Amino acid sequence: MLEILTLGNDVLRKKCSSVVEFDKKLEDLIDAMVITMREGKGIGLAGPQVGVEQRLFVCQIQDQSPMVFINPEIIGTAEEQVPYEEGCLSIPGIYSDVIRPEWIKVQAWNLKGRPFTLEADGLLARVIQHEIDHLKGVLFLDHLNEKKRLRLIKIYEKRIKK
Ligand code: NI
Repeated sequence: MLEILTLGNDVLRKKCSSVVEFDKKLEDLIDAMVITMREGKGIGLAGPQVGVEQRLFVCQIQDQSPMVFINPEIIGTAEEQVPYEEGCLSIPGIYSDVIRPEWIKVQAWNLKGRPFTLEADGLLARVIQHEIDHLKGVLFLDHLNEKKRLRLIKIYEKRIKK
């Protein structure tokens, strides 16, 4: 299992660089990330959350198989934006509705270095957008208005002091 970095760690604010080597080391990292995500009962986990400043993430929703996205880019979005409750393994215990496009089209590479595109809506679209944010150093709290963000950070800080 990998250590999950939490709010306040600078790595979570870094802009990640693209993956260039599709090798055994990358496969091992992805395996470890999937295990760590499941252990943490999360549905997505991005590189910087485990100290890896590279453009990659894993996700797994409901009973589906885990999915791997390397060097992902959103190449299309619905105009309609919808609220949906989000949480983050790096900000445990904090949840809030976040407004984002309800549908997206994403391009990424798989572990073998092959490109693919995927259209997603609902929970999967939500997870993908949340995780791609991580690769730019953006957290879901950044989408909230300042008042709400500061209130949630206060609650979080109180909680971790206990
Ligand atoms: Ni997150």
